[in-house]
Amino acid sequence: MISLEDVTVAFDGFTAISNVDLRVEQGEFVTIVGPSGCGKTTLLRTIGGLEEPTSGRVRIDGRSPEAAQTNADIGFVFQQHTLFPWKSALENVTFLRKTAGNAPEADAARALLRSMGLEGFEDARPKELSGGMKQRVSIARALHLDADVLLMDEPFGELDEITRDELGVEIRDLWRRERKTVVFVTHSVPEAVFLADRCLVMCGQPGRIEATFDVDLPEPREEDVFGTRSFQEQVAQVRQTLHENYA
Ligand SMILES: Nc1ncnc2c1ncn2[C@@H]1O[C@H](COP(=O)(O)OP(=O)(O)O)[C@@H](O)[C@H]1O
Ligand SMILES: [Mg+2]
Repeated sequence: MISLEDVTVAFDGFTAISNVDLRVEQGEFVTIVGPSGCGKTTLLRTIGGLEEPTSGRVRIDGRSPEAAQTNADIGFVFQQHTLFPWKSALENVTFLRKTAGNAPEADAARALLRSMGLEGFEDARPKELSGGMKQRVSIARALHLDADVLLMDEPFGELDEITRDELGVEIRDLWRRERKTVVFVTHSVPEAVFLADRCLVMCGQPGRIEATFDVDLPEPREEDVFGTRSFQEQVAQVRQTLHENYA
């Protein structure tokens, strides 16, 4: 369980996020949507211990983010892949687990790559892979860490729309099987609704959580959900909240 109590983060007097209270339950998929600059990345980095709150408190299963990270309990996926260019897809997936002090399991890593549609590309270097494939490797790497908490910062941000939709379906499906606790940041409203159990709308500045939507969509969530009236209505509600608060 992730909890933030009255968290404020300021950089040299500039307040990026202010007085954020948030609880994410074990196994919950939460998305955060908001315009550029409203503090989404800052919030996610603070949850992961990459930024320190100026005031307030962050806990992950009762521990500090630093302790959770040391224990390899947090997996990150960023907008720009952070793969080692000289390592193969498979080596990239196993490497992080190794540095975290866990024995890499090549078979499990292969299975993850397969489940991400990358069978046959285990030995390929990042430069031989498309943008979507590199993000799939990054996601497989985060999953291979076997962390309970996955923090994703616009992981599909640089991908074309079709690939985004496809990866969205895959991520939701993976989550259904693995039940990780996921906090997923995006500026795409449809993506935020499609993926979430709960969608938080952030507005700035300083960034704050303006509204929370419990998403109600049938499972498993597949491409046909995008065309349903229920989905479109929920997207419209979130969008309206964003527009009402857009300064
Ligand atoms: N390390 C930093 N130093 C100074 N300002 C920062 C830093 N990181 C983010 N900011 C500022 O905080 C605000 C929120 O940024 P960010 O969290 O990246 O927003 P988002 O991810 O929603 O686009 C922006 O105005 C940004 O310029
Ligand atoms: Mg950002």
